[in-house]
Amino acid sequence: MSARKRTAILISGRGSNMSALIEAARSPDYPADIVLVLSNRAEAQGLAYARERGIATAVIDHKIYAGREEFEKSMQVLLDLHHIEIICLAGFLRVLTPAFVQHWEGRLLNIHPSLLPAYRGLDTHARALADGVKIHGCTVHFVAPALDEGPIIAQAAVAVLDDDTPDTLAARVLTQEHVIFPAALAAVAGGHLQIKDNRVVFDHAKPEPPALRVPADGMLDP
Ligand code: GRF
Repeated sequence: MSARKRTAILISGRGSNMSALIEAARSPDYPADIVLVLSNRAEAQGLAYARERGIATAVIDHKIYAGREEFEKSMQVLLDLHHIEIICLAGFLRVLTPAFVQHWEGRLLNIHPSLLPAYRGLDTHARALADGVKIHGCTVHFVAPALDEGPIIAQAAVAVLDDDTPDTLAARVLTQEHVIFPAALAAVAGGHLQIKDNRVVFDHAKPEPPALRVPADGMLDP
């Protein structure tokens, strides 16, 4: 196997997606190695989990910087110091500048709690319930300069139940987030895909990570 890709996870809070990525990467044949967890908030609960697993952690408080560029310059210094090749945004609540996003193009992943392009932005579960949709879900995508846009790597759908609240729906979606984010990172780090005209195309000559396996006729089991 080629060298595992040095990966940083950026968080702002709970870090359950971060934990799912860290757990997946414990397997020696997982193609990404989580070597840095970076938070913009010192109180982010995820930091302790990463630290306990021997992963380098850092806090860069965005509030002490004059603007986004200065904040990102500090992050970039740290990312360079750790020779980071891939970044995963896992509940990182800062908007990134187009310059930062372009610098990391094709190497910057985000998890969003909706089936994009539906429900960009915040409060996705409450908005889905208010609209009465019957299917909701989550998306892992490459980050593009516009908010919650960029080539889609993986999605998972869940049924919306009659008695769902935003919290119960969020919990069911979150379970799926923990499946597709590690699978998507494996696909990127393992070089299983290419971006063609804003679409992610998988290289079927290589074995795909199981959670992303799509039959040749594109039909998934119901
Ligand atoms: C997740 O719902 C993710 O989709 C969104 O922010 C939330 C982060 O949760 N971007 P956690 O910190 O990973 O538990």
